[in-house]
Amino acid sequence: MSNRWYSASAPGKFVVLGEHSVVYGKPAVVLATDLRIKCSVRRSYMNSLNGEKLDLYRQPHIKYLTRDVHYCLDFLTTSQVPSGSGMGSSAALSAAIALAISTEKGEEPSERQLVDESYGAELYAQGNGSPMDASACVHGGGIAINIPNTNNELWTIKRNDRTWRVSDIKVPDLSFVIGNTGIKAPTGPQVEKIRRFKEKSGFASEIIDEMGKVTLEGYSALRKNDKEKLGRLMTQDHKLLSILGVSCNELNKLVNASLPYSYGAKLTGSGGGGCMVALTDRPDKVAEAIASRGGTPIVINSGSEGARIEKSIADGKRMDIPLQ
Ligand code: MEV
Repeated sequence: MSNRWYSASAPGKFVVLGEHSVVYGKPAVVLATDLRIKCSVRRSYMNSLNGEKLDLYRQPHIKYLTRDVHYCLDFLTTSQVPSGSGMGSSAALSAAIALAISTEKGEEPSERQLVDESYGAELYAQGNGSPMDASACVHGGGIAINIPNTNNELWTIKRNDRTWRVSDIKVPDLSFVIGNTGIKAPTGPQVEKIRRFKEKSGFASEIIDEMGKVTLEGYSALRKNDKEKLGRLMTQDHKLLSILGVSCNELNKLVNASLPYSYGAKLTGSGGGGCMVALTDRPDKVAEAIASRGGTPIVINSGSEGARIEKSIADGKRMDIPLQ
């Protein structure tokens, strides 16, 4: 048995516009970040994760991703992506693990195969959702979903009666600051909350339709580099997400603190806690405002490379990186 390590990494992501409504097939715009998750695997006599016995029932992503692996593996991970915070940690982890496992098997998976693995792992773990995070964390750069006339289509994914047409978009030269509330909020319950709201009330569907329109307008503002309009639409999207019930006081506090120094701000990801994002020309002022209201600012670079094979081994330490 070879006990060589095989390593891969994938970037986290943040949603510029369209989270939650994308689950219902509406458009979305999402960018990969320069925060990455790395994973290393090697054959072993027992499954382990970062030096401890691996309980697959507590690690549903790994359980799914190893469903066709008939031997034990050691896993080492290192993360710069805050977990359970809307920054794509579960899709990035799944993409990195899927690529490391395929490489260990001697395979060379396509991006589409990695997206199917990563999206499959997320569905297995969280029950419902779109392939947005998996697409961004595998492909990297900038991703648009269900936006007409984007000419660089990557893949189309269908599930039940929904279709997501995923395209590569040019990464805008814009500066974004993330604010982390520090409250962990897994995606599954937030997605389920909106599903129940939508089932009970036509009002929720109207809000979701409106979010779709806001995202389409926002995408065209982004293409024209119209920061004022894009920012305004991000703030409007935050209000619509709040009406759907996925914001919280801590997120609203950080959004409001950022607004005087931003074009606009909104929660990013599934909400209920986690992170917000502000579009700004004054990242230092926004970071200060976020910190003064108890949040952790992260000045990110967007549009980073997607999932890739790594030469060095993950160090088995998780780290939530604050201000860069
Ligand atoms: C979470 O990053 C994004 C959501 O839209 C869920 C999903 O698309 O699967 C809330």
